[in-house]
This record gives sequence, structure tokens and C-alpha cells, in this order.
Amino acid sequence: MKSKDATYFNPFELFAYIGEEYFCDRKEELKELQSALDNRRNLVLISMRRMGKTQLIRHWHHRLSKEDQVIPIYIDVMQTTSDRQFINRLASAVLIALEERKTIVSKALNVFKSLRPTVSVDPVTGLPEVNLDIRDDRDVGISMEQIARLLADRKERVQISIDEFQQISEYAQTVIDASIRANIVPLENTHILFCGSESHLLHALFNSAKKPLFASTQFMHLDYIGKKAYGSFIEKHFKKAGKIIDKIAVDEVLRWTRRHTFYTHFLCNQLYDFPCTTIDLEQVEQAKYRCIQHFEMTFLYYKKLLSKNQFKVVRAIAREGAVNAINSKKFLNQYGLAASTATQSVKALTKDGILYAWQERDRVVYRVYDVFFSRWLEQLSI
Ligand SMILES: Nc1ncnc2c1ncn2[C@@H]1O[C@H](COP(=O)(O)OP(=O)(O)OP(=O)(O)O)[C@@H](O)[C@H]1O
Ligand SMILES: [Mg+2]
Repeated sequence: MKSKDATYFNPFELFAYIGEEYFCDRKEELKELQSALDNRRNLVLISMRRMGKTQLIRHWHHRLSKEDQVIPIYIDVMQTTSDRQFINRLASAVLIALEERKTIVSKALNVFKSLRPTVSVDPVTGLPEVNLDIRDDRDVGISMEQIARLLADRKERVQISIDEFQQISEYAQTVIDASIRANIVPLENTHILFCGSESHLLHALFNSAKKPLFASTQFMHLDYIGKKAYGSFIEKHFKKAGKIIDKIAVDEVLRWTRRHTFYTHFLCNQLYDFPCTTIDLEQVEQAKYRCIQHFEMTFLYYKKLLSKNQFKVVRAIAREGAVNAINSKKFLNQYGLAASTATQSVKALTKDGILYAWQERDRVVYRVYDVFFSRWLEQLSI
């Protein structure tokens, strides 16, 4: 196949934030974020994976960066495994946001002097990385105090977003939450947003009376983008490229991907690449097939990892779409499952993130977390 030339551009971007034009909706959520910032309510932003939390923060920060009076700071702590790594990431981001490029090194060496700092350059981003020699909890406290001082010295407001914050629960031991509470929360000019998708871990960090951040924040759930807004967004971008996508095709895209943002975008990204100028259900069918093909190796790997019973259960749930009565006779009989097997499997599959569970009135509802995996399971013939 001939490769596309340099001007080719797909507006359904799957990873980076590429600007307002390519960001869909979230108007109400933005208002909520802004109100939290203006009224100094720290937030915990929570949702299923791949719903759009990180993109929403990026979009908000993009807007904030146009104002003189707010400095946005973003860190992702997913890959960190210790307080030391967390602090180094935070210190680096704060210095990069607050200092002129040429003064970062001297400022780092000066401010964090007692923590034996070194500065290197990230080979991928080209940005400076501060490395503080944090040996114990006391050093964590000292470094957080210094970071707080840097923030407090600014006349602007500062918005700090910490993505994948639940990661601190995985550290062997941590005083990060306690030192944020002691040093950053009291700052009058600084607003904090904690973000993540592991709701039980986040609830444990913020809703347990024994935890330092207890009752210090407001929770905000990120839900699906509305059907109308998502549909118009899709139509608009096809139209801009001289392509007409019919209404039934758009509806099918939204239905099949359950409007779970990453999956909807992924399907649109595939569809956009088709060389035709009118898009109807036929192209959508082909694009669906491509999506499933793209991930099939991963799905076969999942199949290998799961026990026979677990696979039977996950497939049954995929076929149903969503199940709110795992132990009902109808469901068990239809898929040849024993009640004990179903209960045990559902528990393990939910814990491993293969199933997603939520409460609806007095019932727990289960669904296959990964939309494409669910669609793949649905169409298996054996
Ligand atoms: N409002 C949006 N407009 C356009 N695309 C979006 C939007 N929100 C999400 N996306 C698409 O969905 C993808 C996943 O979004 P994002 O990475 O923000 O999800 P997340 O909730 O942070 O996921 P995770 O929990 O896995 O970190 C993005 O890379 C982008 O392709
Ligand atoms: Mg994210």
C-alpha cells in the first residue's frame, strides 16, 4: 500500500492532545473543573479507563495556559514506584512550569540543596529532570516543603493535576498523601486535582477517616460523551475532509463502541482512513472488522490466561452486553454455568479488570471492560 504524504492528517487522534478543534464536547465538565478551581475545592476526577480523563485535563490546561493568572502543572505518576520517584516527578514539573528554562538547573541546585540534587535531561522530551536524593520520610517532608515554598512565592494561581494518583497505594510505603496534606493543601494559591481509574483505591485514599486526605476533596465522575455531541463531532470532521458519513453509520459507530471514548475514536480513526467520499454501514462493518483484527493477538492471549470457566463466563457476559443478575436461573441455564462457578469467576475477572462492575439501584451490573474484546467474544462461533 502507498504511504500517505506528509499533509495527511487524521482528526481522530488516539493518544496526544492536539488542540481544541479535535477535542469533543465536555463543556459541562469543564465548567465543573473551573468552578472547583475558582472556589478552591480540590477534586478527585474518576472514571473507567479510556474514558477521557487525561484528555480533559490536557484540554483544561490548554485553556488555562492562555490566561496570565493561572499556571497549570500536570504529572502522571503511573510509572512511579516510590515516594522518591513521585517527588522527583513533581519537583521537575514544578520547576519547569515556574522557572525560565535557563534558570531551572541553578534553582534546583539551590532550592533543594540539602537533598543532594542532580539534574539530567530526559532523552525523549528534552526537558530537565530533577533528581533529589530522598532517603527517608523526613526527606519527603523537606522536599515537599520546598516545593510548597516555590508555589507559594508565585502571585498567580497554580493548578496541579496528578494523574494516576492511586499509584501511591502500590508503593511499599508512602507519606506522599500526608505530606501533600501538610504542605500543598494549605497553600492559598494552589488547587489540586487527583485523577485515576481505580475507584476502590482512590476511595480508600480519600474516604477513609484514617487517611491523611480524608474529606479534603470533592469527587467528580467522568461519564460518556452525549450521543448528540459525539455524533455532530464525527460528522463535522468527516465533512471537513469532503466526506459524507450518513446518520445511520454514525449511530452504528456510537452504538457498537458504546460511546466509550477511546473505542469510538479508534473506530472513527479507522473509518477516516477509507479512501471513499461517502461512508455508510458497509464501511462501518469493514472498520469494525479492522478494529477487532488489530487487537486479536491480545484477545487470544487473554483467552490463554483465563481458566475455562472464566472464559465461559466472560463470553456469556459479552453475549448479553451487560448482566445484572449473574445468579439468575435464566442466565446460568442459558450458558450452562453453575452458580458457584459464575460467582467465583466474576469476582476474579472483576479484580483483574476484565469485567467492569457498577451499582444500579440494588443490583451490581457487569460488563466486559474492553469494548473491542467484548465485541470479539460476541462473534466467536465456538
Ligand atoms: N473529549 C475528547 N475528544 C476527543 N477525543 C477524546 C476525548 N476524550 C478522550 N478521547 C480519546 O480517547 C482516548 C483516551 O482518552 P484518555 O487517555 O484521556 O482516557 P483516560 O480516562 O485518561 O484513560 P486511562 O484511565 O486509561 O488513563 C484519547 O487518547 C482520545 O483518543
Ligand atoms: Mg489517563
